[in-house]
Amino acid sequence: MRASGPQPYATINVVGSERAGFETFLSAQSKIILGIESSCDETAAAAVSGGERILSSIVASQIAIHRKYGGVVPELASREHLRQIVPVVREAVEQAGITLQNVDAVAVTRGPGLVGALLVGITYGKVLAQALGKPLIGVNHLEGHVHAVFLEAAAAGLPRPGMPAVCLIVSGGHTVIYFVKSEVQNGAAHFSYTRIGGTRDDAAGEAYDKVARLLALGYPGGPVLDQLAAYGDARAIRFNEPKMRGNVFDFSFSGIKTAVLYHLRRHSELQPEIDTRKEALARGERGADALRRLSSAATLDLVASFQRAVVDDLVTRTIAAAQQSGARSILVSGGVAANRQLRARFAAEAKRHKIDVFFPSRALSTDNAAMIAAAGYPRFVAGQHEDATLNAEPNLPLV
Ligand code: KG4
Ligand code: ZN
Repeated sequence: MRASGPQPYATINVVGSERAGFETFLSAQSKIILGIESSCDETAAAAVSGGERILSSIVASQIAIHRKYGGVVPELASREHLRQIVPVVREAVEQAGITLQNVDAVAVTRGPGLVGALLVGITYGKVLAQALGKPLIGVNHLEGHVHAVFLEAAAAGLPRPGMPAVCLIVSGGHTVIYFVKSEVQNGAAHFSYTRIGGTRDDAAGEAYDKVARLLALGYPGGPVLDQLAAYGDARAIRFNEPKMRGNVFDFSFSGIKTAVLYHLRRHSELQPEIDTRKEALARGERGADALRRLSSAATLDLVASFQRAVVDDLVTRTIAAAQQSGARSILVSGGVAANRQLRARFAAEAKRHKIDVFFPSRALSTDNAAMIAAAGYPRFVAGQHEDATLNAEPNLPLV
């Protein structure tokens, strides 16, 4: 159901619902939730039917705007959300082949995230729900990331991951492990979450972005470091594993970023190539291949060793959390879940420990609104609606 012609926004493949069977979608069991997401630097809207069939998913990324600052600038993010929210929602409705009147509820991210960014989606969602006379559902962004994994299973025609599960959410803003339980209450699925551990300082994606900045490898750093790591020796440099006193399921990634900084200070011979890459980036040459050609073996070893340390830490603590909590499966979601080494290590370790591991596709790993609509669906079925007092909650915990 992809629209033909030029695509101004990234589009997630529509699954399950080919046009031929569309009428059946509009039956009683196929309530359509319009999801809206604006918690960070992606303005997204999606229509999801029955909580698991993606009719459309539109994501307008702001990466190009924040790139020159090496991170998300909150004021710029809010302004861009304001510019994008109306066309993005319109595109999501059009690509789903529906009209706003077909929407049964509006689900919007209420937090956590940047307050100004969240407010754009919330305000628009509120007004839209009111104008349509349809319920408004408030969704925790992190719960959305959990549901991205369920969406992927549905898209692939696979059964849902076994519950209870342990979910690692790992992105530029979050690195946290939850114990996830689901039960049926009054005919509706009810999910509950217990935080097992999380980062005490930087998120893993943030460490990728900061190290990429130190090495002049562009923004966001994760995708390029992921590709370059394949060309280096991951055992060349040893980074000390952070010792987590108190909770062994906590993470800390600020130390490794500082270790990379000190490594570069000790190896001043790497500075000229950093300067050359800075110039290349300034000329707009940011592809991984171009940056690799401008990187010495010593830099590629550093990248591979950094990635190995981060991936080892994420995999080891998550597997241990799953074993200790008696989880039946592991879910991994968020932007860093796209990392190839992370996926390979999780797959190998999970097999060794006889536990299933599930990842969303790349498009569903990063921020999107299909996951918000999916997470909103059980709340819609359970009648958990919001009123006009719904507000942004930048530090909203997941419970
Ligand atoms: O989930 P996301 O799109 O946005 C939030 O942070 O919420 O995640 C973006 C983060 C960035 O830090 C980016 O560097 C990282 O995910 N990332 C990756 C990869 N792709 C994106 N990190 C490692 N390997 C990747 N392949
Ligand atoms: Zn996110």
